[in-house]
Amino acid sequence: MIENISVIGTGYLGATHAACMAELGYNVLGVDIDPEKIDSLSRGELPFHEPGLPELIRKHVDSGRLRFTTDLEEVGAWGDVHFIAVGTPQQAGGTGADMTFVNAATASLARAITKDALIVGKSTVPVGTARRLAKLVEEESAAGVRVTLAWNPEFLREGFAVKDTISPDRLVVGTADPADEAILRDVYSDALGRDTPWINTDFETAELVKVAANAFLATKISFINAFSEVTEAVGGNITTLADAIGHDTRIGRKFLNAGVGFGGGCLPKDIRALQTRVGELGLDHTMRFLDEMDQINLRRRDRVVNLAENILSGDLTGKRIAVLGVAFKPLSDDVRDSPGLDVAVRLFSGGADVAVYDPEGNRNAAKRFPRLGYVDSLTEAVTGADLVVLTTEWNEFKALTPADLESLVGQKQFIDARNVLDASEWEGAGWRFAQLGRHF
Ligand code: UGA
Repeated sequence: MIENISVIGTGYLGATHAACMAELGYNVLGVDIDPEKIDSLSRGELPFHEPGLPELIRKHVDSGRLRFTTDLEEVGAWGDVHFIAVGTPQQAGGTGADMTFVNAATASLARAITKDALIVGKSTVPVGTARRLAKLVEEESAAGVRVTLAWNPEFLREGFAVKDTISPDRLVVGTADPADEAILRDVYSDALGRDTPWINTDFETAELVKVAANAFLATKISFINAFSEVTEAVGGNITTLADAIGHDTRIGRKFLNAGVGFGGGCLPKDIRALQTRVGELGLDHTMRFLDEMDQINLRRRDRVVNLAENILSGDLTGKRIAVLGVAFKPLSDDVRDSPGLDVAVRLFSGGADVAVYDPEGNRNAAKRFPRLGYVDSLTEAVTGADLVVLTTEWNEFKALTPADLESLVGQKQFIDARNVLDASEWEGAGWRFAQLGRHF
């Protein structure tokens, strides 16, 4: 009977997983090497924005079911199942995944464990990692205790992290031993709906399912964005195109929203890491199309900057531009590889006076690029603007009408880089109005 669950790494994934495991009824200990993070989590405070998560953490910190520590020795003596949820960022100066944190966390955990336990990797890793770490765990764990490893990739989306963890649309588990599968089935029994697919497989498949899913999602987005380049040239409506092909259930409408493209801490770095990994395996050609997907994606940002230059007659100097949205997507304060922030910085570098407003993302953006002008409201951002650029589709921006802005802006010029507004309404109200995938 599993009672004590630890989660190693209390970043985005780890903090969510720890809180959700407490919600499922377990005693949970979250561990991190960062004492500041542990202090704030112990007070029930979350260092990032995720709807519903602060409430869940506070609930279970108060109930005593969820604790946080920096002491790995305590964790090793206490846990029955240990989830590894540390980051695998893109290597500095490279395109592969930086495995430093996963390697270090697994080795030190294995050494700290003093009772039989299962270690479960959740991080997104290059294929081959789990098999290598299983061996490492065997070598590093103390004689007389049985410590094994399983791989259980995570598919949660920022903004929906709690829901995706507590009621996942599938669970994928890579194990080398049926006993480990049985333990994980037990752990997740309350998260499994009657029809939730449970996929038990080998290490390699489990690792690859995760990167294949993200590569497929990135491909869908870049696919439609490639057609944007065509409709921009010849005319046509990219949203109607997406709707029409999306009616074919084999294709599906989701992730076919054309716009400024994908960003965040997962899709961009995962497609680069996958390509790098298959290259290491001698399969350089196999995933070359992902490089194309990456390029299509980055070209969308160029397009927005070019449109801005075009609308402002080729000279950004001194022009006031409101950038609406620097979080990589709505319901998040994450600005990692954010298309909106990238566009804002490039407009600023071109000489524009940029006013950035994002309901949640300003603080993180300001840490990275303090020189941009950050303002606290939409009204402040657009007041006196020569151009408004919508880069993240927050509800507050999707609800905008020409009448809301008319009396505030300096010039009636707008780029809707997420294709969420009705062009005819804005043009009808006398605006110069550009969208992606639309002839301009
Ligand atoms: C992504 C995956 O969707 C999750 O399943 C996965 O677990 C996660 O990465 C991860 O690896 O941890 P996330 O990064 O939260 O989740 O964001 P998505 O919702 O996938 O959006 C990614 C980007 O694509 C955003 O910048 C979004 O604006 C963009 N996007 C999405 C589009 O440009 N068009 C679309 O049609 C959909």
